[in-house]
Amino acid sequence: MEWNVKDYNVNASYVSEYGQGILELLSPQPEESILDLGCGDGKLTEKISLSGCHVIGIDSSEAMICEAQKRGIDAKVSSSEEIDYQNQFDAVFSNAALHWMKDANSVIRNVYCSLKPGGRFCAELGGINNVNTIVTEIYTQLSKRNLDGELYNPWYFPDKEEYCMKLVKAGFVIKYAEIFKRLTLLPTDVAGWLKTFAKPFLRNISKNQHDDFIQSVMIGVADKLQNDQGQWFADYVRLRFIAKKKVF
Ligand code: BEZ
Repeated sequence: MEWNVKDYNVNASYVSEYGQGILELLSPQPEESILDLGCGDGKLTEKISLSGCHVIGIDSSEAMICEAQKRGIDAKVSSSEEIDYQNQFDAVFSNAALHWMKDANSVIRNVYCSLKPGGRFCAELGGINNVNTIVTEIYTQLSKRNLDGELYNPWYFPDKEEYCMKLVKAGFVIKYAEIFKRLTLLPTDVAGWLKTFAKPFLRNISKNQHDDFIQSVMIGVADKLQNDQGQWFADYVRLRFIAKKKVF
């Protein structure tokens, strides 16, 4: 997806703030070599580097990698489905990015190859039913326009067992996994969230109809995602895990 850095800064500042929890689970150590998958604007990558480790960030968005490089991060444009590092990293980290990678088996296989034996894969992504109120309303509004939401959905929100099974099949040992709901206060509103994150759903809607579509979705979710003070929320569900590459 094409990312708009300005929209991201206005509507999604909380993403790296909520990343603090998974960063603590990563617990980066001095001199470790760490890969940040889907590093985005590099805010968390920079925090990882403060612990004295060597960190590389990759992301498929050129605009986001530019932002990360401005922070002095060793960052490059690359897709996680295509990386081919071998036994190089003590840890692979990812926050709020794996759900954009629908070919999860390829990603997991590549992460496994890129880790040293005993290395850890530590990540947080959207879990099953993530932003379900919003997705359901998008589907409703698309079907009113004779469009099938499934075809445009760019996200993969697995349940814990499904993702852990993929990890185990690839040769990982699960050290920790949890799934939990996190109703998240948005800095703007659901329209801002949709403009920032849901562009793939708008592919077959003409540009002059985009605002109209976004307003329809926002009105449709208002009774569930707006409180009496007018604040807007997204019904996030998070899946977190730490998995270790076996040492044979
Ligand atoms: C998430 O972090 O769960 C997420 C962000 C944007 C779109 C979909 C999910």
